Amino acid sequence: MNADELKRQAAEAAIEYLPDGGIVGVGTGSTVNFFIDAFAKIKGRFEGAVSSSESSTDRMKKHGIPVLDLNAAGQLDVYVDGADESNRHLHLIKGGGGALTREKIVAAASKTFVCIADESKLVDILGKFPLPVEVIPMARSYVARELVKLGGNPVWRENFVTDNGNLILDVHDLEIMEPAKLETQINQLAGVVTVGIFAHRPADVLILGSREGPKTIKP
Ligand code: A5P
Repeated sequence: MNADELKRQAAEAAIEYLPDGGIVGVGTGSTVNFFIDAFAKIKGRFEGAVSSSESSTDRMKKHGIPVLDLNAAGQLDVYVDGADESNRHLHLIKGGGGALTREKIVAAASKTFVCIADESKLVDILGKFPLPVEVIPMARSYVARELVKLGGNPVWRENFVTDNGNLILDVHDLEIMEPAKLETQINQLAGVVTVGIFAHRPADVLILGSREGPKTIKP
């Protein structure tokens, strides 16, 4: 099985975590794209979805899935999204696609966060995947210097602007032993919009696509 087949397997397994109706939170990325395609087949059961990015919005609209504003939707029962890395506590690194800010908002506004990924995303220690940090453009150099003091090696993701009009620093060479602590530290830096560590609001369920079939991990 190739990586896409494993992603599809995890995405399709997430369908059983959906409520009977209402509004579903939808993340961003190649794994979520498989989820959107599966969700489209049962869209009639739901009022619609809250999206975490322009790209997921586009894909859902093409499928005829109503995309609703989070402010009008209120609290969501379930949010389904991928991750770049997860540890066994379901602390995540996210933001490889640059959608981390809206993803963190929709995750925070949801009762249950179902994370879907292929099994290569499960790691013992977060940080091999460069940690994305969304910053206000004028703060880019300042935040980069502060991230160096925290032990990282930030690299500006050039020619990339987030859906919110901001920039991304990808922080290399971190070994994140205390994800919640580092999330707080980076959140404190002036000019940081969002750090791609999801530890204060981890996933509740991780579904991993594997050669043996979908594996479910709960912290
Ligand atoms: C988007 O910004 C990310 O947080 C994605 O959820 C993450 O990068 C996973 O993407 P894939 O499903 O494409 O691996």
